[in-house]
Amino acid sequence: MIVAANFKMNKTRKETEEYLKELKTIDFQDVKVAVFPPFTALMEDELIGAQNAYPAKNGAYTGEIGLEQLDEFGIKRVLLGHSERRHILNETQEFIAKKFSFYKECGFEIYYCVGEPLEVRKKGINAVIDYIKTQFEGIDLEYENLVVAYEPVWAIGTGVSAGRDEIKETHQSIRELTKRPILYGGSVKLNNIGEILKIPNVDGVLVGSASLDVEVFKEMINKAKEIKK
Ligand code: PGA
Repeated sequence: MIVAANFKMNKTRKETEEYLKELKTIDFQDVKVAVFPPFTALMEDELIGAQNAYPAKNGAYTGEIGLEQLDEFGIKRVLLGHSERRHILNETQEFIAKKFSFYKECGFEIYYCVGEPLEVRKKGINAVIDYIKTQFEGIDLEYENLVVAYEPVWAIGTGVSAGRDEIKETHQSIRELTKRPILYGGSVKLNNIGEILKIPNVDGVLVGSASLDVEVFKEMINKAKEIKK
């Protein structure tokens, strides 16, 4: 079971340090925990991953960070293709696939996000899967360090997670495409994590807003520990 925290553009370096210290007061047992803080809070810690990275070691890419900056902190984990980067920062599939290939070559663990907007969901599961397949273009779905995160756009930050049947059906379809772990993300909270983790083919969760409070996130990890699959 994987429980990952995406801080997005929240928390300072100091706050992240305090968060990690508190987080480590619990035993994770068989749960794998990952934390994605903003760039300014990257630090040498086995839990930490970057929310994004440019596909180059270094160079003239203003506003970006690359392999050299991640190496400084021994970071070997990156989140790619998050819907906020696709939709707010206008990242194309081609560019995301380039990042994927570069960080795959570097042996990184890649948390790769996919998910459909509401207008696609309204058309039904076949349209959803067709859409997700376009987000898998150029992505090696057999990569041994790949973790897929299914995050429907309409469920991210809305307080309304996808329903059990929607998650079940979508994860089942993604499972036909990859054997790698599949996380669900989108309004995962303390009161729904247990139900979500019990759904077949859900191998963990990617948590945004609910992860910001370390006490809540600790409780979420504790809930994940109870679920045996
Ligand atoms: P949320 O975000 O938990 O706040 O919906 C999830 C995500 O974007 O990874």
